[in-house]
Amino acid sequence: MQILGGMRVKKFLTASLSLFALLTFVLCITAWCFTYRGDEEAGPENAYESRVVLGFAQLGAESEWRSSSSLSVREAARKRGIELMFVNARQKQENQIKAIRSFIAHRVDVIAFSPVVETGWDNVLQEAKAEGIPVVLVDRSIRTEQEGLYVAFLGSDFVEEGRRAGRWLLDRYADFTGRVRIVELRGTEGASPTRGRDEGFREVIARDGRFEIVRLLRGDFMRSRGREEMERLLSDGRFPSVDGVDVLFAHNDDMAMGAVEAMEEHGIRPGRDVVVISVDAQKSALDALRRGKVNCVVECNPYIGDQLMDLARRLAAGLDVPALTYSDETVYTADDLENLPSRPW
Ligand code: AHR
Repeated sequence: MQILGGMRVKKFLTASLSLFALLTFVLCITAWCFTYRGDEEAGPENAYESRVVLGFAQLGAESEWRSSSSLSVREAARKRGIELMFVNARQKQENQIKAIRSFIAHRVDVIAFSPVVETGWDNVLQEAKAEGIPVVLVDRSIRTEQEGLYVAFLGSDFVEEGRRAGRWLLDRYADFTGRVRIVELRGTEGASPTRGRDEGFREVIARDGRFEIVRLLRGDFMRSRGREEMERLLSDGRFPSVDGVDVLFAHNDDMAMGAVEAMEEHGIRPGRDVVVISVDAQKSALDALRRGKVNCVVECNPYIGDQLMDLARRLAAGLDVPALTYSDETVYTADDLENLPSRPW
């Protein structure tokens, strides 16, 4: 009897253990199926790969715009469940090249970077290509004679931004008969936004002989440098001039804000004594537009993180991507004060 009872207990224990093992197995499979998408927000078009590693070499932190751009990339990667290797190259091309080489060594799925200057990338991009790692240019472009060093560009049309600034100026002074003297406060030399904005602006103002660029200042896209350059200009006492219209065309908001501070310290009213045109449309410039210290702000969109993550997922899955994606951008002036976008920065 005792032996029989012992066998029943044994059978019962074996059956319970098998049931437990089966249940655990079913639970594990279910959990795997749910986590395989790698991202709780991913729709079917984002579910190509469970794990995507993106190496992103940001050029630096020179401006408010750049901080917004970095934040947009980090946030989008977190939301989409993309593993991001982020490097701040502190305005140095050699640091960006080093970062790209380390991404290649880590065998990331996709490399993206915002090139600080346009030239000098051929060798490192050939290395990425040889390893079969697709490269996306974000925000700024490069110049090269070689084909196929990158698969996509995602960012702004800088030449068009310069044209927009020029068109606004020509329009604003359409009925004015005197000279319009322009001081151009340029960004980093050798960078695509500097070349593009300059090219587009000159192309438009060249249509009217009254408009002339009389001084070039170099502010490297930084507020402190914009301020210094304007102070230097003001100290020679010839700006603003006493007749005609004086204009400051700043290649970004940070430099414009630095120059505005310097003008105010010299008793000059920016927006009235000097017409101010800026590019980016970050919070500080939109506030200055509201207060009448800036007259025209050409938008340059830094919020491209989500689009970049879409490209990275498609590329990691071996799918095609558009070779060129320009952001939708506009121009803000005193006529738009009711409808200015609200910006965190
Ligand atoms: O490349 C975009 C430019 O770089 C932005 O206009 C400027 O603010 C930034 O530093």
